[in-house]
Amino acid sequence: MELSLRKATEHIGTEIDGVDLTQPLDDATISELKTALDEHSVLVFRDQRFDDNTQTAFSAQWGALETTVYKREGDGGVPVANITNVDFRTDSIFPPDHPRLKSNTGNEMWHTDSSFKPVPSYCSMLSGREVPPVGADTQFASCRAAYEALPEAERLRLDGLVAEHNYGYSRSLVKEYEAPRETLEEVPPVLHAVVRTNPTTGRKNFYTGSHASHIIGWPVEKGRQLLRDLVAKASQPKFVYVHQWQPFDFVIWDNRSVLHRGTPYDSARYRRVMHRTTVAGSGPTVSETGDALAVA
Ligand code: SIN
Repeated sequence: MELSLRKATEHIGTEIDGVDLTQPLDDATISELKTALDEHSVLVFRDQRFDDNTQTAFSAQWGALETTVYKREGDGGVPVANITNVDFRTDSIFPPDHPRLKSNTGNEMWHTDSSFKPVPSYCSMLSGREVPPVGADTQFASCRAAYEALPEAERLRLDGLVAEHNYGYSRSLVKEYEAPRETLEEVPPVLHAVVRTNPTTGRKNFYTGSHASHIIGWPVEKGRQLLRDLVAKASQPKFVYVHQWQPFDFVIWDNRSVLHRGTPYDSARYRRVMHRTTVAGSGPTVSETGDALAVA
């Protein structure tokens, strides 16, 4: 199979043609796609007519799938998270004050999926099943390009730092939203290295986002400021790819090195149904004693 790649921006993102991901793929093709993800951080595919079974089968070829805190109501924790403004039980748009809509706005902060877990995610895969005609873009920011652009002294300052990531902290930043207590109990705070190294390419990036609360051993506000500064550096337009969704687009991103965020849309008017599978990472980013691991 001949894959054709077209870079989306200088630093992040590539669009790939010549493959139907809904059909069974051999290991060589999956391996080629993984190499492309290591290099380009975000992979965009058009017109991939997934349903949940084919999306799950494709995603499982990349590694173990996470079940997420965004369980689809009533269906018992399948590995497909439904990011939507549509109640699938009634097939109608949630009323404007529904907690689900408030919770969705948490995705509008720059974040990396599952950084609140001890083993954070490797990559996420998002299928646009129904997309609004305006708004609701997803933006992706390269923490690798931003890290590589830092002066050496700033890169050295980050080496060995460890941050606490806390789902409760990020949800406390979402306006008019209180995360359910049982969800918070499922995901107590965890530690992660601030600098991560891709085990295949050896390239480094910083690791931050909305779940990153503070730096261990630093005054809380000083650490928070550093983590926010890093987000600001990565989200400069030159390091960002903006994805404007068409129905049945399928986007894969590297959660180890990319921040992403959803953008607003008229959720009272337009339906948005996005199904996400999330591939787990291969291990923790800190040792048992809480020190940053060299490759994580
Ligand atoms: C996500 O944060 O995983 C989804 C982003 C989006 O809804 O565009």
